Amino acid sequence: MGNWKLNGNKAMVAQLITALQAPATQHPNVAVAVCPPVLFLGQAQALLTDSPIALGAQDVDIHDQGAFTGENSAHMYTEFGVQYVLVGHSERRTLHGESDAMVAAKFRAAQDAGLTPVLCIGETLAQFEAGETQAVVERQLHEVIAHCGIESFANAVIAYEPVWAIGTGKTATPEIAQGVHAAIRAFLANLDAKVADGVQILYGGSVKGSSAAGLFAMADIDGALVGGAALQADEFAAIISAG
Ligand code: G3P
Repeated sequence: MGNWKLNGNKAMVAQLITALQAPATQHPNVAVAVCPPVLFLGQAQALLTDSPIALGAQDVDIHDQGAFTGENSAHMYTEFGVQYVLVGHSERRTLHGESDAMVAAKFRAAQDAGLTPVLCIGETLAQFEAGETQAVVERQLHEVIAHCGIESFANAVIAYEPVWAIGTGKTATPEIAQGVHAAIRAFLANLDAKVADGVQILYGGSVKGSSAAGLFAMADIDGALVGGAALQADEFAAIISAG
């Protein structure tokens, strides 16, 4: 899944999506999705007609409609063919002050509209160095479980994104990432083994074509949420090929 963040223009959307059609079609066993900025969702939807590439949004409001200037609702996304919505990306948590409770409400709003939330969790560098990774991701998961129930993860994706690896070029090693992914799955399995077994857990943080295969070889790493490398067709194609 490519998270384009605040990048792109109409020409780039057309070029990138066109260039990704062939690699996505050649790897039908790999689920491919792109999350362009909201302004380009209509354009992307048109380009993705009959394409195996799914469409995602980067954020969602908790309300369905009303006096909430600047926001976009989950129901609005459904009119643009959107299937996935990122919730709780660390940039939203940090730059927009989103609390665990707010993230859980967004998760629920997405599911209520029939969308699949991609719950982003992960620790900061200070928390990593203090050995708090597991406590942090469990706290972030707990809030969603408390609001939406463990069964809600039967229709959700988790993205483990250590904040210290995002946009820094420092990918977590496959072993570090695998350790956290396994802990996340074990935490969920304590509540529902079937849900834990079925949920896709993506890794995010400086994933590139050259690092994807090593990550995907790990038992509990089911895919990647890709930022910078998702803006380059050849890099993203290499990640798809590694899937
Ligand atoms: O959501 C994807 C992400 O935050 C990772 O970004 O640029 O490190 O791949 P990047």
